[in-house]
Amino acid sequence: MLAGKRIVLGVGGGIAAYKAVEVSRRLVDAGAHVVPVMTAAAEHFIGRTTLSALASEPVRMDLWEGPDPIPHTRLGQTADLICVAPATARIISAFAHGYSHDLLTNILIATRAPVVVCPAMHTEMWEHPAVVDNMTLLRSRGVHVVGPGVGRLAGGDLGAGRLADPEHIVAAVDAVLGSGDLAGLRFVVTAGGTREPIDAVRVIANRSSGQQGHAIASEAARRGADVTLITTASLPADGVAHRIDVETAAQMEGALNEHAPSADVVVMSAAVADFRPVDPANYKLKKDAGPPAIMLEATPDLLAQLGRQRRPGQVLVGFAAETDDLLANARGKLERKQVDMIVANDVAAPGVGFSHPTNAVTIVTAASEREVPLASKADIATAVVDEIARLRSTVRQAEARRVDPIQSDTAP
Ligand code: CTP
Repeated sequence: MLAGKRIVLGVGGGIAAYKAVEVSRRLVDAGAHVVPVMTAAAEHFIGRTTLSALASEPVRMDLWEGPDPIPHTRLGQTADLICVAPATARIISAFAHGYSHDLLTNILIATRAPVVVCPAMHTEMWEHPAVVDNMTLLRSRGVHVVGPGVGRLAGGDLGAGRLADPEHIVAAVDAVLGSGDLAGLRFVVTAGGTREPIDAVRVIANRSSGQQGHAIASEAARRGADVTLITTASLPADGVAHRIDVETAAQMEGALNEHAPSADVVVMSAAVADFRPVDPANYKLKKDAGPPAIMLEATPDLLAQLGRQRRPGQVLVGFAAETDDLLANARGKLERKQVDMIVANDVAAPGVGFSHPTNAVTIVTAASEREVPLASKADIATAVVDEIARLRSTVRQAEARRVDPIQSDTAP
Protein backbone atom coordinates (compact mmCIF):
# COMPACT_ATOMS: atom_id res chain seq x y z
CA MET A 1 0.00 0.00 0.00
CA LEU A 2 2.88 2.40 0.76
CA ALA A 3 5.02 1.21 -2.15
CA GLY A 4 6.87 4.11 -3.75
CA LYS A 5 5.63 6.66 -1.21
CA ARG A 6 8.22 9.10 0.07
CA ILE A 7 7.69 9.81 3.76
CA VAL A 8 9.65 12.28 5.84
CA LEU A 9 9.74 10.88 9.38
CA GLY A 10 10.37 13.73 11.84
CA VAL A 11 11.60 12.69 15.27
CA GLY A 12 11.35 15.10 18.20
CA GLY A 13 13.22 15.09 21.48
CA GLY A 14 11.19 12.95 23.84
CA ILE A 15 11.67 9.59 25.52
CA ALA A 16 9.29 8.04 22.95
CA ALA A 17 11.86 8.79 20.20
CA TYR A 18 13.02 5.18 20.53
CA LYS A 19 9.65 4.06 19.13
CA ALA A 20 10.27 6.13 15.98
CA VAL A 21 12.84 3.51 15.02
CA GLU A 22 10.06 0.90 14.98
CA VAL A 23 7.77 3.26 13.03
CA SER A 24 10.54 3.68 10.45
CA ARG A 25 11.11 -0.06 10.17
CA ARG A 26 7.40 -0.73 9.66
CA LEU A 27 7.07 2.02 7.04
CA VAL A 28 10.05 0.62 5.13
CA ASP A 29 8.60 -2.91 5.40
CA ALA A 30 5.36 -1.56 3.91
CA GLY A 31 7.31 -0.32 0.87
CA ALA A 32 7.79 3.36 1.75
CA HIS A 33 10.97 5.35 1.20
CA VAL A 34 11.64 6.88 4.62
CA VAL A 35 13.64 10.10 4.94
CA PRO A 36 14.52 10.44 8.63
CA VAL A 37 14.88 13.91 10.16
CA MET A 38 15.79 14.30 13.82
CA THR A 39 15.78 17.44 15.95
CA ALA A 40 18.87 18.21 18.01
CA ALA A 41 16.95 17.23 21.17
CA ALA A 42 16.05 13.83 19.66
CA GLU A 43 19.74 12.94 19.65
CA HIS A 44 19.64 12.90 23.46
CA PHE A 45 17.32 9.91 23.20
CA ILE A 46 18.41 7.89 20.13
CA GLY A 47 21.54 7.72 18.03
CA ARG A 48 21.61 8.78 14.40
CA THR A 49 23.12 5.45 13.41
CA THR A 50 20.18 3.47 14.81
CA LEU A 51 17.56 5.43 12.91
CA SER A 52 19.67 5.67 9.73
CA ALA A 53 20.09 1.89 9.71
CA LEU A 54 16.34 1.29 9.77
CA ALA A 55 15.30 4.12 7.41
CA SER A 56 15.92 4.43 3.66
CA GLU A 57 18.69 7.04 3.89
CA PRO A 58 20.92 8.62 6.53
CA VAL A 59 19.41 10.87 9.20
CA ARG A 60 19.39 14.61 8.53
CA MET A 61 19.39 17.14 11.30
CA ASP A 62 20.79 20.37 10.03
CA LEU A 63 19.68 23.05 7.60
CA TRP A 64 23.29 23.84 6.80
CA GLU A 65 24.99 20.46 6.36
CA GLY A 66 25.48 18.62 3.05
CA PRO A 67 25.72 19.93 -0.52
CA ASP A 68 22.04 20.89 -0.87
CA PRO A 69 21.60 24.61 -0.03
CA ILE A 70 17.84 24.31 0.46
CA PRO A 71 17.15 20.86 1.95
CA HIS A 72 13.97 21.98 3.72
CA THR A 73 12.07 23.04 0.61
CA ARG A 74 13.27 20.06 -1.40
CA LEU A 75 12.37 17.56 1.33
CA GLY A 76 9.03 19.30 1.94
CA GLN A 77 8.15 19.47 -1.74
CA THR A 78 9.11 15.93 -2.68
CA ALA A 79 7.43 14.22 0.28
CA ASP A 80 4.12 12.40 -0.15
CA LEU A 81 3.57 12.74 3.58
CA ILE A 82 5.32 14.08 6.68
CA CYS A 83 4.90 12.09 9.88
CA VAL A 84 6.19 13.54 13.16
CA ALA A 85 6.62 10.90 15.90
CA PRO A 86 7.07 11.85 18.64
CA ALA A 87 5.83 15.42 18.27
CA THR A 88 6.85 17.38 21.36
CA ALA A 89 5.03 20.44 22.74
CA ARG A 90 7.78 22.57 21.18
CA ILE A 91 7.40 21.12 17.67
CA ILE A 92 3.59 21.39 17.90
CA SER A 93 3.88 25.03 18.96
CA ALA A 94 6.41 25.87 16.24
CA PHE A 95 4.28 24.19 13.56
CA ALA A 96 1.08 25.88 14.76
CA HIS A 97 2.69 29.34 14.73
CA GLY A 98 4.92 29.05 11.66
CA TYR A 99 8.12 29.30 13.66
CA SER A 100 10.76 27.56 11.54
CA HIS A 101 13.98 27.37 13.49
CA ASP A 102 15.45 23.99 12.54
CA LEU A 103 15.34 21.55 9.65
CA LEU A 104 12.19 19.69 10.78
CA THR A 105 10.10 22.80 11.47
CA ASN A 106 11.29 24.32 8.17
CA ILE A 107 10.12 21.20 6.31
CA LEU A 108 6.75 21.34 8.09
CA ILE A 109 6.21 24.93 6.99
CA ALA A 110 7.56 24.34 3.47
CA THR A 111 5.41 21.31 2.58
CA ARG A 112 2.03 20.98 0.95
CA ALA A 113 1.93 17.24 1.66
CA PRO A 114 -0.43 15.85 4.32
CA VAL A 115 1.06 15.93 7.82
CA VAL A 116 0.47 13.30 10.51
CA VAL A 117 1.37 14.52 14.00
CA CYS A 118 1.81 11.95 16.79
CA PRO A 119 2.12 13.86 20.08
CA ALA A 120 3.92 12.44 23.11
CA MET A 121 4.54 14.29 26.35
CA HIS A 122 3.64 14.33 30.02
CA THR A 123 -0.07 14.62 30.86
CA GLU A 124 0.40 18.05 32.47
CA MET A 125 1.94 19.35 29.24
CA TRP A 126 -0.64 17.65 26.97
CA GLU A 127 -3.47 19.23 28.98
CA HIS A 128 -1.87 22.69 29.20
CA PRO A 129 -4.15 25.27 27.50
CA ALA A 130 -1.27 26.36 25.22
CA VAL A 131 -0.86 22.82 23.85
CA VAL A 132 -4.65 22.29 23.68
CA ASP A 133 -5.04 25.51 21.65
CA ASN A 134 -2.13 24.64 19.36
CA MET A 135 -3.61 21.21 18.66
CA THR A 136 -7.01 22.77 17.89
CA LEU A 137 -5.31 25.13 15.45
CA LEU A 138 -3.44 22.30 13.72
CA ARG A 139 -6.55 20.14 13.45
CA SER A 140 -8.55 23.05 12.01
CA ARG A 141 -5.91 23.31 9.27
CA GLY A 142 -6.32 19.67 8.29
CA VAL A 143 -3.34 18.20 10.14
CA HIS A 144 -3.97 14.55 11.02
CA VAL A 145 -3.41 13.66 14.67
CA VAL A 146 -2.69 10.15 15.97
CA GLY A 147 -2.93 9.62 19.73
CA PRO A 148 -1.64 10.20 22.25
CA GLY A 149 -2.72 7.17 24.24
CA VAL A 150 -3.10 6.70 27.97
CA GLY A 151 -0.47 4.65 29.77
CA ARG A 152 2.87 4.61 31.52
CA LEU A 153 4.98 7.68 30.86
CA ALA A 154 8.63 8.47 31.55
CA GLY A 155 9.46 8.52 35.26
CA GLY A 156 6.74 5.96 36.04
CA ASP A 157 3.82 8.42 35.76
CA LEU A 158 0.51 7.17 34.40
CA GLY A 159 -1.79 9.24 32.19
CA ALA A 160 -2.55 10.67 28.76
CA GLY A 161 0.46 11.57 26.63
CA ARG A 162 1.93 8.25 25.58
CA LEU A 163 2.98 8.00 21.92
CA ALA A 164 0.48 5.97 19.86
CA ASP A 165 1.63 2.43 19.08
CA PRO A 166 3.88 2.23 15.99
CA GLU A 167 1.39 -0.07 14.23
CA HIS A 168 -1.39 2.51 14.70
CA ILE A 169 0.87 5.29 13.42
CA VAL A 170 1.67 3.28 10.31
CA ALA A 171 -2.03 2.40 9.85
CA ALA A 172 -2.89 6.11 10.04
CA VAL A 173 -0.20 6.99 7.49
CA ASP A 174 -1.58 4.25 5.29
CA ALA A 175 -5.12 5.58 5.72
CA VAL A 176 -4.13 9.17 4.88
CA LEU A 177 -2.30 8.03 1.74
CA GLY A 178 -4.56 5.10 1.10
CA SER A 179 -7.13 4.48 -1.54
CA GLY A 180 -9.97 3.84 0.92
CA ASP A 181 -13.23 5.43 -0.25
CA LEU A 182 -13.22 7.67 2.85
CA ALA A 183 -9.55 8.77 2.61
CA GLY A 184 -9.15 12.42 3.53
CA LEU A 185 -12.51 12.64 5.33
CA ARG A 186 -12.74 13.53 9.01
CA PHE A 187 -15.25 11.56 11.04
CA VAL A 188 -16.33 12.31 14.60
CA VAL A 189 -18.16 9.36 16.19
CA THR A 190 -19.69 9.28 19.68
CA ALA A 191 -20.29 5.97 21.45
CA GLY A 192 -21.57 4.47 24.69
CA GLY A 193 -24.04 5.71 27.27
CA THR A 194 -23.31 8.78 29.35
CA ARG A 195 -23.20 8.48 33.14
CA GLU A 196 -24.52 11.39 35.18
CA PRO A 197 -23.37 11.62 38.81
CA ILE A 198 -25.85 11.55 41.70
CA ASP A 199 -23.10 11.65 44.33
CA ALA A 200 -19.44 10.68 44.60
CA VAL A 201 -20.18 6.99 43.90
CA ARG A 202 -23.56 6.71 42.19
CA VAL A 203 -24.60 7.59 38.64
CA ILE A 204 -27.65 7.59 36.40
CA ALA A 205 -26.65 5.43 33.44
CA ASN A 206 -28.27 3.60 30.53
CA ARG A 207 -27.79 0.22 28.89
CA SER A 208 -25.75 1.32 25.86
CA SER A 209 -22.54 -0.73 25.59
CA GLY A 210 -20.79 1.38 22.96
CA GLN A 211 -20.19 -1.66 20.69
CA GLN A 212 -22.11 -0.24 17.74
CA GLY A 213 -20.41 3.16 17.90
CA HIS A 214 -16.95 1.58 18.19
CA ALA A 215 -17.72 -0.69 15.21
CA ILE A 216 -18.72 2.35 13.13
CA ALA A 217 -15.56 4.25 14.14
CA SER A 218 -13.34 1.27 13.22
CA GLU A 219 -15.14 0.71 9.90
CA ALA A 220 -14.70 4.38 8.91
CA ALA A 221 -11.00 4.22 9.89
CA ARG A 222 -10.51 0.99 7.93
CA ARG A 223 -11.84 2.78 4.84
CA GLY A 224 -9.35 5.60 5.23
CA ALA A 225 -11.22 8.22 7.30
CA ASP A 226 -9.43 10.21 9.97
CA VAL A 227 -11.61 9.27 12.95
CA THR A 228 -12.05 10.97 16.30
CA LEU A 229 -13.98 8.72 18.68
CA ILE A 230 -15.63 10.30 21.74
CA THR A 231 -16.64 7.43 23.97
CA THR A 232 -17.77 6.38 27.42
CA ALA A 233 -16.98 2.70 26.74
CA SER A 234 -13.76 0.93 27.67
CA LEU A 235 -13.67 -1.07 24.45
CA PRO A 236 -10.88 -1.17 21.85
CA ALA A 237 -11.24 0.97 18.73
CA ASP A 238 -9.02 -0.40 15.95
CA GLY A 239 -7.42 2.12 13.66
CA VAL A 240 -9.03 5.13 15.30
CA ALA A 241 -6.63 8.05 15.12
CA HIS A 242 -7.86 10.02 18.08
CA ARG A 243 -9.84 8.77 21.05
CA ILE A 244 -11.39 10.89 23.78
CA ASP A 245 -12.77 9.10 26.83
CA VAL A 246 -15.65 10.91 28.53
CA GLU A 247 -18.29 10.09 31.09
CA THR A 248 -21.01 12.74 31.18
CA ALA A 249 -23.15 14.53 28.59
CA ALA A 250 -21.35 17.76 29.50
CA GLN A 251 -17.94 16.20 28.78
CA MET A 252 -19.24 14.80 25.50
CA GLU A 253 -20.57 18.25 24.62
CA GLY A 254 -17.14 19.80 25.35
CA ALA A 255 -15.36 17.28 23.12
CA LEU A 256 -17.92 17.78 20.34
CA ASN A 257 -17.55 21.56 20.54
CA GLU A 258 -13.85 21.10 19.93
CA HIS A 259 -13.94 18.45 17.20
CA ALA A 260 -17.30 18.54 15.38
CA PRO A 261 -16.89 21.93 13.64
CA SER A 262 -14.02 20.68 11.45
CA ALA A 263 -15.57 17.24 10.77
CA ASP A 264 -16.98 16.18 7.41
CA VAL A 265 -19.20 13.59 9.07
CA VAL A 266 -20.52 13.41 12.65
CA VAL A 267 -22.15 10.17 13.85
CA MET A 268 -23.97 10.47 17.18
CA SER A 269 -24.36 6.84 18.17
CA ALA A 270 -23.98 7.60 21.88
CA ALA A 271 -26.99 7.24 24.15
CA VAL A 272 -26.82 10.66 25.76
CA ALA A 273 -28.75 11.03 29.04
CA ASP A 274 -31.78 13.27 28.61
CA PHE A 275 -31.79 14.26 32.29
CA ARG A 276 -29.11 14.68 34.94
CA PRO A 277 -29.12 15.45 38.67
CA VAL A 278 -29.13 19.21 39.18
CA ASP A 279 -26.63 19.35 41.99
CA PRO A 280 -24.67 16.10 42.44
CA ALA A 281 -23.18 15.65 45.92
CA ASN A 282 -19.39 15.47 45.96
CA TYR A 283 -19.56 13.01 48.85
CA LYS A 284 -21.37 9.67 49.31
CA LEU A 285 -25.03 10.09 50.35
CA LYS A 286 -25.65 7.93 53.44
CA LYS A 287 -28.65 5.62 53.55
CA ASP A 288 -29.44 6.54 57.16
CA ALA A 289 -30.68 9.89 55.81
CA GLY A 290 -33.48 8.01 53.98
CA PRO A 291 -34.28 7.95 50.24
CA PRO A 292 -32.89 11.13 48.66
CA ALA A 293 -35.05 13.42 46.54
CA ILE A 294 -33.02 13.80 43.35
CA MET A 295 -33.93 16.85 41.33
CA LEU A 296 -33.24 16.38 37.61
CA GLU A 297 -32.64 18.89 34.83
CA ALA A 298 -32.64 18.38 31.06
CA THR A 299 -29.29 17.96 29.32
CA PRO A 300 -28.78 19.85 26.05
CA ASP A 301 -29.73 17.84 22.97
CA LEU A 302 -26.25 17.59 21.46
CA LEU A 303 -27.43 16.28 18.10
CA ALA A 304 -30.00 19.06 17.73
CA GLN A 305 -27.29 21.59 18.62
CA LEU A 306 -25.03 20.15 15.91
CA GLY A 307 -27.97 20.30 13.48
CA ARG A 308 -28.41 24.03 14.15
CA GLN A 309 -24.70 24.87 13.99
CA ARG A 310 -23.35 22.69 11.21
CA ARG A 311 -21.49 24.09 8.24
CA PRO A 312 -22.66 23.44 4.65
CA GLY A 313 -21.69 20.03 3.36
CA GLN A 314 -21.23 18.41 6.77
CA VAL A 315 -23.12 15.11 7.07
CA LEU A 316 -24.91 14.56 10.39
CA VAL A 317 -26.08 11.11 11.50
CA GLY A 318 -28.20 10.38 14.56
CA PHE A 319 -29.51 7.23 16.15
CA ALA A 320 -32.99 6.51 17.44
CA ALA A 321 -33.49 3.83 20.08
CA GLU A 322 -37.22 3.10 20.09
CA THR A 323 -39.64 0.62 21.58
CA ASP A 324 -42.74 1.81 19.64
CA ASP A 325 -43.56 3.50 16.31
CA LEU A 326 -40.02 3.06 15.02
CA LEU A 327 -40.31 4.79 11.67
CA ALA A 328 -42.59 7.64 12.72
CA ASN A 329 -40.29 8.46 15.65
CA ALA A 330 -37.18 8.19 13.45
CA ARG A 331 -38.66 10.55 10.83
CA GLY A 332 -39.69 12.96 13.62
CA LYS A 333 -36.08 13.02 14.93
CA LEU A 334 -34.69 13.44 11.39
CA GLU A 335 -36.73 16.62 10.93
CA ARG A 336 -36.65 18.01 14.47
CA LYS A 337 -32.89 17.63 14.86
CA GLN A 338 -32.15 18.72 11.25
CA VAL A 339 -29.96 15.72 10.44
CA ASP A 340 -29.30 13.80 7.22
CA MET A 341 -29.73 10.29 8.50
CA ILE A 342 -31.25 8.45 11.44
CA VAL A 343 -30.24 4.88 12.23
CA ALA A 344 -33.29 3.52 14.01
CA ASN A 345 -33.44 0.35 16.06
CA ASP A 346 -36.27 -1.32 17.89
CA VAL A 347 -34.49 -2.00 21.16
CA ALA A 348 -37.34 -4.20 22.39
CA ALA A 349 -36.83 -6.75 19.58
CA PRO A 350 -34.82 -9.94 20.35
CA GLY A 351 -31.07 -9.65 19.66
CA VAL A 352 -31.32 -5.94 18.87
CA GLY A 353 -29.66 -2.88 20.39
CA PHE A 354 -28.05 -2.41 23.78
CA SER A 355 -25.58 -5.04 25.03
CA HIS A 356 -26.23 -7.56 22.24
CA PRO A 357 -23.41 -8.46 19.82
CA THR A 358 -26.03 -8.19 17.05
CA ASN A 359 -28.34 -5.46 15.83
CA ALA A 360 -31.04 -4.78 13.23
CA VAL A 361 -31.65 -1.25 11.99
CA THR A 362 -33.59 0.86 9.55
CA ILE A 363 -31.51 3.61 7.99
CA VAL A 364 -33.77 6.58 7.35
CA THR A 365 -32.93 9.61 5.19
CA ALA A 366 -35.24 12.28 3.77
CA ALA A 367 -35.46 10.30 0.52
CA SER A 368 -35.10 6.66 1.56
CA GLU A 369 -35.54 3.89 4.09
CA ARG A 370 -33.21 0.87 4.12
CA GLU A 371 -33.85 -2.07 6.40
CA VAL A 372 -30.76 -3.98 7.54
CA PRO A 373 -31.84 -7.30 9.09
CA LEU A 374 -30.29 -8.91 12.20
CA ALA A 375 -26.50 -9.06 11.75
CA SER A 376 -23.30 -8.56 13.73
CA LYS A 377 -22.59 -4.99 14.82
CA ALA A 378 -19.59 -4.98 12.46
CA ASP A 379 -21.91 -5.78 9.51
CA ILE A 380 -24.39 -3.13 10.64
CA ALA A 381 -21.47 -0.67 10.81
CA THR A 382 -20.54 -1.51 7.20
CA ALA A 383 -24.13 -0.84 6.07
CA VAL A 384 -24.28 2.45 7.98
CA VAL A 385 -20.91 3.64 6.64
CA ASP A 386 -21.95 2.60 3.08
CA GLU A 387 -25.03 4.82 3.40
CA ILE A 388 -22.94 7.69 4.80
CA ALA A 389 -20.53 7.40 1.83
CA ARG A 390 -23.51 7.47 -0.56
CA LEU A 391 -25.07 10.46 1.19
CA ARG A 392 -21.74 12.26 1.26
CA SER A 393 -21.31 11.93 -2.51
CA THR A 394 -24.87 13.26 -3.03
CA VAL A 395 -24.06 16.25 -0.80
CA ARG A 396 -20.85 16.90 -2.77
CA GLN A 397 -22.68 16.75 -6.09
CA ALA A 398 -25.22 19.25 -4.77
CA GLU A 399 -22.37 21.51 -3.58
CA ALA A 400 -20.67 21.29 -6.99
CA ARG A 401 -23.92 22.28 -8.73
CA ARG A 402 -24.23 25.32 -6.43
CA VAL A 403 -20.65 26.41 -7.16
CA ASP A 404 -20.77 25.68 -10.89
CA PRO A 405 -24.03 26.95 -12.42
CA ILE A 406 -23.16 25.44 -15.83
CA GLN A 407 -23.03 22.00 -14.28
CA SER A 408 -26.23 22.92 -12.48
CA ASP A 409 -27.94 23.75 -15.78
CA THR A 410 -26.88 20.51 -17.41
CA ALA A 411 -27.37 18.27 -14.40
CA PRO A 412 -30.24 15.82 -14.71
N1 CTP B 1 -29.06 12.82 21.62
C1 CTP B 1 -28.24 13.89 21.90
N2 CTP B 1 -28.36 14.58 23.07
C2 CTP B 1 -29.30 14.22 23.96
C3 CTP B 1 -30.15 13.13 23.68
C4 CTP B 1 -30.01 12.45 22.49
O1 CTP B 1 -27.38 14.21 21.07
N3 CTP B 1 -29.40 14.89 25.10
C5 CTP B 1 -28.90 12.14 20.31
C6 CTP B 1 -28.47 10.69 20.41
O2 CTP B 1 -27.05 10.58 20.36
C7 CTP B 1 -29.10 10.08 19.19
C8 CTP B 1 -30.35 10.92 18.95
O3 CTP B 1 -30.15 12.13 19.67
O4 CTP B 1 -28.27 10.21 18.04
C9 CTP B 1 -31.65 10.30 19.39
O5 CTP B 1 -31.54 9.86 20.71
P1 CTP B 1 -32.77 9.14 21.40
O6 CTP B 1 -32.41 8.81 22.82
O7 CTP B 1 -33.29 8.04 20.52
O8 CTP B 1 -33.89 10.28 21.34
P2 CTP B 1 -34.20 11.52 22.22
O9 CTP B 1 -33.93 12.74 21.43
O10 CTP B 1 -33.50 11.42 23.54
O11 CTP B 1 -35.77 11.42 22.39
P3 CTP B 1 -36.64 10.30 23.19
O12 CTP B 1 -35.79 9.90 24.38
O13 CTP B 1 -37.88 11.02 23.55
O14 CTP B 1 -36.87 9.17 22.23
